[in-house]
Amino acid sequence: MTTTQLNQLAHRLNQINDLSKGEVGQNRLVYSPTWIAAQQQIIQWGLDLGFQVTVDDFGTAYLDIPGKTNPEQVIATGSHIDTVKQGGRFDGLYGVLGGLEALERLLDADGKPSKTLRLISFSEEEGSRFPETFTGSKHYTGQSINLAMRDPDGISFEAARQAAVSKLDLPGVNHNLPALPVTFTELHIEQGPRLIDHHLQIGLVTSIVGQRRFTVTVKGIANHAGTTPMNDRADALQMAVDLISDLRKNARQVDPQLTFTVGEFHVSPNTSNVIPGRVDFTIDTRHEKETVLDQFEQILHQVVETPRASKITSSVNRWAKSDATQLDQAMLARNQAIADHLGFRSSQLASGAGHDSQIMAQMTRTTMIFVPSINGISHAPEENTSQADLERGVTLLTESLHQQAY
Ligand code: GLV
Ligand code: MN
Ligand code: MN
Ligand code: MN
Repeated sequence: MTTTQLNQLAHRLNQINDLSKGEVGQNRLVYSPTWIAAQQQIIQWGLDLGFQVTVDDFGTAYLDIPGKTNPEQVIATGSHIDTVKQGGRFDGLYGVLGGLEALERLLDADGKPSKTLRLISFSEEEGSRFPETFTGSKHYTGQSINLAMRDPDGISFEAARQAAVSKLDLPGVNHNLPALPVTFTELHIEQGPRLIDHHLQIGLVTSIVGQRRFTVTVKGIANHAGTTPMNDRADALQMAVDLISDLRKNARQVDPQLTFTVGEFHVSPNTSNVIPGRVDFTIDTRHEKETVLDQFEQILHQVVETPRASKITSSVNRWAKSDATQLDQAMLARNQAIADHLGFRSSQLASGAGHDSQIMAQMTRTTMIFVPSINGISHAPEENTSQADLERGVTLLTESLHQQAY
């Protein structure tokens, strides 16, 4: 395979899409029909290539080339196949298809490895359907997941999981939770502007920020827009807007590097002539220091829970937390040496995006390789990477896996 083919495979998988009217980009939310079709395709490619394929209870697929002499030692690569709503074509998928390509290249050029080579296609990373992130890698590494949690349509994770995973049982697929690898390398697009702005070709990831996600609920009183006096309203939307404005200022004061995003906002009843009675909105906040995240979380509670108006209440609930994570320094040094040897212009950087690597790093030696994102855009339909940069990432990954597994 070549990266031209990688692009074609990405195109083929991204054709499996379920956009509603007016939507653009990629929708591959975990356990949806498009997610099932994409994961089936990846499993089938593994079977066609003669790999040993396993699917776990959460629908993560493991495509193995068993090692000749030390099969119990597993050198793994991979990423996730789910997307955010209206996401891009490479977030997650590049690491899965790039990993598949690296394994094929190694098999073609060098035959069977001494240690087992494994491609992992994680079921879910984004937290864009259920109120939990990284469920694929968390399951693999033995963390428990709340199976009763529900998506916005009221479907439980457990029901969605069972229905979807039963459809991945293609002939030849094994079922168990494979042992953890001795190393994990994740290839990913950078999703930010640093590499492209500095004309760099490769990023080697030192650490990943910690992130916390919250939902704030504001309850007022729905009432008539024309008859309720302006000084006697319990307008939940007006309160939500004031809270967001204050919280944003507080976030800047805590640390200018702290990111603060309100990405989801629901107004009820959401009708032009009714004063809003209820608003729910999310906050996503990230920083490389847990102390900064702790400090902001404390302020968030104070700001939201201090009463501001007699008939309005507000509350905050944290539903996702992942800690700031250092990645493996020796693995980074190896990749740095390879990048230098190949003449790739590279930089070492911290990741502001979350990745399965931060979960894997808790259990195994883990590293990440970034390639540039055009215009620094990601989590959006315009997300893209040049053919040459896709190729450089796969070349580096291939050599890195070669040094580890042969
Ligand atoms: C997931 O990609 C995230 O960083 O939010
Ligand atoms: Mn990703
Ligand atoms: Mn993402
Ligand atoms: Mn991510």
